[in-house]
Amino acid sequence: MTTQTEFTSDSTFIPARLNTQAEIHELLANRRSPRAFSDRTIEPDTITKLFEAARWSPSSANEQPWYFIVAAKEDSIAYSALHDSLAEGNQRWAAKAPLLVLALARTTYSRNGQAYQHSWYDLGQSIASLSVQATAIGLAVHQMGGFDPVKVIQQYPIPEGFVPVVIFAVGYPDQADGLPEDLQKRERAPRSRKPLEEFVFTDQWGKLSRHIQSRSVSHTQSSAN
Ligand SMILES: Cc1cc2nc3c(=O)[nH]c(=O)nc-3n(C[C@H](O)[C@H](O)[C@H](O)COP(=O)(O)O)c2cc1C
Repeated sequence: MTTQTEFTSDSTFIPARLNTQAEIHELLANRRSPRAFSDRTIEPDTITKLFEAARWSPSSANEQPWYFIVAAKEDSIAYSALHDSLAEGNQRWAAKAPLLVLALARTTYSRNGQAYQHSWYDLGQSIASLSVQATAIGLAVHQMGGFDPVKVIQQYPIPEGFVPVVIFAVGYPDQADGLPEDLQKRERAPRSRKPLEEFVFTDQWGKLSRHIQSRSVSHTQSSAN
């Protein structure tokens, strides 16, 4: 059995098969961060669904500290501004994505102006929801911490109290063939994770919780498109 991303003869995307240590929802198993995106544009209705999913995420005191600046490829100035601020390694593949999004967190509570320690955490949760929603409708999200926030702020004056956290690419996944060879290799590599044994502990650090019963499960779902 392969764990690599596959395509059918008519180029329909088949998400990578995955071995997990327990049965998980296919949306979670199929979510991944591709580098190969097709040119297909994303309809405004579809884009709206992504941010609606983010909107319903939980947050500390329901403060909803997430903010997004959306640039579709046809908004060429806005798109270039985000793309130019990416690290070189990310620019190599991200230019194919039809949508780039800058995600920002508010750094203080709106109710009392105090430091909002969980704002990045909450923003991350909102992007997790958005990513799962994207998977459900055949899209993929690739988040990038590799960008220059100073460059971004020069292009997009941002009010005080808001901080750029990640840029993410959104698009319909495509075959790896169009990527430079080294990226094709990474794109085709099996996805991997450290085992549950390494991070779910009992009262003794490093000892697996007795509540964890691990068994190997193969996810062989078909295309989400
Ligand atoms: C906060 C954050 C920053 C990331 N930064 C980058 C990045 O700069 N470049 C990149 O190619 N991937 C980046 N990634 C994607 C991770 O490398 C990817 O999620 C991880 O390798 C697991 O792969 P998967 O998402 O396909 O399961 C980032 C992901 C997160 C959540």
